[in-house]
Amino acid sequence: MKVLIIGGGGVIGQKLARKLVDRGHLRGADIAHMTLADVVNPAPITAGFPVDVVRVDIADRASVDKLIAGRYDVIYLLAAIVSAHAEEDFDAGMNINLFGSYHVFEAVRALGTKPVIVFHPLSLFMAERCLTRLRITPFLIRKHPTERKRRLVNCC
Ligand SMILES: NC(=O)c1ccc[n+]([C@@H]2O[C@H](COP(=O)([O-])OP(=O)(O)OC[C@H]3O[C@@H](n4cnc5c(N)ncnc54)[C@H](O)[C@@H]3O)[C@@H](O)[C@H]2O)c1
Repeated sequence: MKVLIIGGGGVIGQKLARKLVDRGHLRGADIAHMTLADVVNPAPITAGFPVDVVRVDIADRASVDKLIAGRYDVIYLLAAIVSAHAEEDFDAGMNINLFGSYHVFEAVRALGTKPVIVFHPLSLFMAERCLTRLRITPFLIRKHPTERKRRLVNCC
């Protein structure tokens, strides 16, 4: 089982990576390899299996294609700029949270394989709730369609 964590240098990415290392297995299979990808160098993690650290900028489709070509069984997509930053910087929010996520889904789709993509579901939950209550913000407008797109590509 090959696992990729995009945004592996972030708060959740690092916690998730350590948790997976402790568990050693996922979806009934042993984890044989993990890659932490981020726009900055993620802190290295020691494990009983190889853990690579690679640079990627999800806003750049070529950079994403190169990463995804490694063919993973499970991809966690946690790379993003968080809400305050995305509200302040419209272009960065669009390029990373919307188009960046889209690049990952499209790169997976182009490969024709179907790794499981796990995409920060709490954000979706918040987005659904806020949209229902008509509290629409630029941050949520980018989160919501990316989750819809993930479901189309990934069916789960
Ligand atoms: N922290 C929370 O409590 C929380 C709660 C709900 C949802 N989320 C969502 O989970 C995701 C991760 O949150 P976090 O708290 O780990 O955030 P974080 O800011 O700690 O981590 C995000 C990571 O994404 C990386 N990144 C930013 N732009 C990138 C790019 N262009 N290419 C590649 N990597 C890039 C950053 O360098 C960072 O390491 C976000 O989408 C966030 O909205 C977080």
